[in-house]
Amino acid sequence: MRNIKGAIFVNAYSKPSQSITQAQNLQQEFIKKGIGIDIITDGFLLVRKNKIKEYSFGIFLDKDKYLSKQLENLGLRLFNSHDAIRICDDKGETCIALEQNGIKTPKTFFAPVCYRKESPLNEDWLKEIEKELKYPIIIKGSFGSMGSSVYKAENYEELKEISEEQKLNPHIYQQMVGESGVDYRVICIGKQAVSCMKRVNKTDFRSNIALGGVGEKIELERVPHLVEVANTCAKVLNLDYCGVDLLVDETGVYVCEVNSNAFFEESKRVTGVNIAKLYVEYILENI
Ligand SMILES: Nc1ncnc2c1ncn2[C@@H]1O[C@H](COP(=O)(O)OP(=O)(O)O)[C@@H](O)[C@H]1O
Ligand SMILES: [Mg+2]
Repeated sequence: MRNIKGAIFVNAYSKPSQSITQAQNLQQEFIKKGIGIDIITDGFLLVRKNKIKEYSFGIFLDKDKYLSKQLENLGLRLFNSHDAIRICDDKGETCIALEQNGIKTPKTFFAPVCYRKESPLNEDWLKEIEKELKYPIIIKGSFGSMGSSVYKAENYEELKEISEEQKLNPHIYQQMVGESGVDYRVICIGKQAVSCMKRVNKTDFRSNIALGGVGEKIELERVPHLVEVANTCAKVLNLDYCGVDLLVDETGVYVCEVNSNAFFEESKRVTGVNIAKLYVEYILENI
């Protein structure tokens, strides 16, 4: 074990913020085990110079699918894999993959891809969506995190306005499920749930911590129905590590999204589970 060395890939544009802290937390856990580990923000340069061979494995904290694919093509085992990261990064692709595998997501419609700003919005089609989904309707950009591309329409005027604004971005329409501003974040490592946190935001329909959501520890034994759905998501999408956002109402559990690169700091603080340590142990067992 002592002569192996790993690399943690972080996006080149990351501000010294959560992604760097997450990388440093993981790095410290590797150091405790006597494993050499570098934090890399210039993965592209290393690929070009073919300097990847010194690493036995990589932890990919970025979502840059071009870099992850090149790293795998050079033979590097990535945690998570390129395919898993690519599917999770795209909320539309995630919905399709989950539905294909019988996992419940909120009722979802896909906006047709629009290539030109001048193309008029097709209102016949919007009216169909309005018939199928009850207000409030959630509109989500396919790419986005921390609630930044998630919107809510209470009526047709808002639906039209948001649709026009989002026209050139791939986006989806979803039934709003459960109590406003409430969801459950389950972290899975090696396809097994290790922590669960309920997030409640009293000031916004989005429960993201970045937008004021407050976490509360939920014992896994109390929520076997959530654990089962989260574990199934991790299996179906082949994720070594993930954070699954779940919405619950009287009809069941619905997957809001699956984060291949979920920040774990808040889950760790709220639940007391040392996620970095568990992930590092999992990685060392699987290389
Ligand atoms: N269909 C939905 N019904 C109810 N709440 C939703 C729905 N979709 C998103 N939300 C709320 O918005 C938050 C952010 O949405 P999410 O899809 O997880 O995007 P992000 O990647 O930005 O976190 C969720 O955690 C949840 O609180
Ligand atoms: Mg989310």
